[in-house]
Amino acid sequence: MPYNNNKTLVRCIVLAIATCSMGTQWVSAQKKTSLKKVFAKDFGIGTAMNTAQIEERDAKANAVILQHFNMATPENIMKAEIIHPQWDVYNFDLADKMVAYGKKNKIKINGHTLIWHSQLPAFARNIRSVDSFRTFFTNHINTVAGRYKDQIFSWDVVNEALNEDGTMRRSVFLSRLGDNFVTEAFRLAAAAAPKTELYYNDYNNEQPAKRAGCIALIKKIQDAGVRIDGVGIQGHWHVGKVPFKDIEESIIQYAAMGLKVMFTELDIEVLPRSFQGADVNQRVASNPALNPYPNGLPDSVQQQLANDYEALFKLFLKHKDKITRVTFWGVNDGQSWLNDWPVRGRTNYPLLFDREFNPKPAYYKVIGTKNK
Ligand code: G3I
Repeated sequence: MPYNNNKTLVRCIVLAIATCSMGTQWVSAQKKTSLKKVFAKDFGIGTAMNTAQIEERDAKANAVILQHFNMATPENIMKAEIIHPQWDVYNFDLADKMVAYGKKNKIKINGHTLIWHSQLPAFARNIRSVDSFRTFFTNHINTVAGRYKDQIFSWDVVNEALNEDGTMRRSVFLSRLGDNFVTEAFRLAAAAAPKTELYYNDYNNEQPAKRAGCIALIKKIQDAGVRIDGVGIQGHWHVGKVPFKDIEESIIQYAAMGLKVMFTELDIEVLPRSFQGADVNQRVASNPALNPYPNGLPDSVQQQLANDYEALFKLFLKHKDKITRVTFWGVNDGQSWLNDWPVRGRTNYPLLFDREFNPKPAYYKVIGTKNK
């Protein structure tokens, strides 16, 4: 074999060995670190799970879930639209699977959500009589919370009942039942599931005006002598604009009310958007300028994302005595709801694992917060 060919061959072998060893290092780094292990003494680490994941049809996601998470929330299948599609029809198939998955894998399940104005079944929206609506409300909580009373860890009893200015959202629940419906929901849930932790959950409730409304709402529940155990701050934030001060102030103020504080739907989106929050009714028309990174995230944005996650976890660790759980809203970037909201069909990068389930720089920064 000519000299040059030999040299090429040697180079190829060296490269192959190096690649192989990098691969082994990556696999062993993957094997060694685990979010749930790293933060075991601090707070639970959760993920939202979609239907394919609950049914264990997504083997790669399953491996990541088992390695990294000790808590999980069904992204959609416990919402009324799916679990209670008609007046006297309940569909527990997927919720039962989720509960069984949690039991099998020692993953605590957070029920999401009993009372939410969105993803309501059509029959419920169309109930005109107040008495019938109240019967739906009562039956729904009794049946769903009752079924899982000894099997799930917690419920988001009421989701997103507030407007941005802290007033009550004009939802179907408010218009039919009046503004006591939140307290009533907690009273019913506490009776149906006496051992399950009960939370109020919202987005932007770290913002001062909405936080004040949230505090007033929770105080009303407490003053009525009804049990509420915690408050969920969803945590749908934007890269470079994470409101760290408001988050810290909120952790302190909510904890001072005797509540557990948790981050229930964490993601940090990187695409352009003109408003904050997660109101699923807000939609924006598709336009290429709103989808700037279809083929990959530029390094500068990747770094900013990693830095934001790092700062956030440092803050969570500083207040770990008040925080019980941090749940990411999805397993990998490709599975995030943010690829389709508020603009459909974008390529977003809001989580710690990329579309191939590889840990991103943000993952390593988050893990690294424990070494500082
Ligand atoms: O189930 C249908 C399916 O049959 C159909 O083929 C498909 C076509 O689009 O749609 C499927 O429904 C989608 C559903 O997710 C399940 O994938 C809906 O269109 C879609 O709107 C729905 O989005 C969910 C959204 O809530 C709706 O309100 C997201 O997955 C889910 O991540 C999101 O979660 C909410 C939290 O519950 C509350 N806080 C905000 C958060 C983000 O919006």
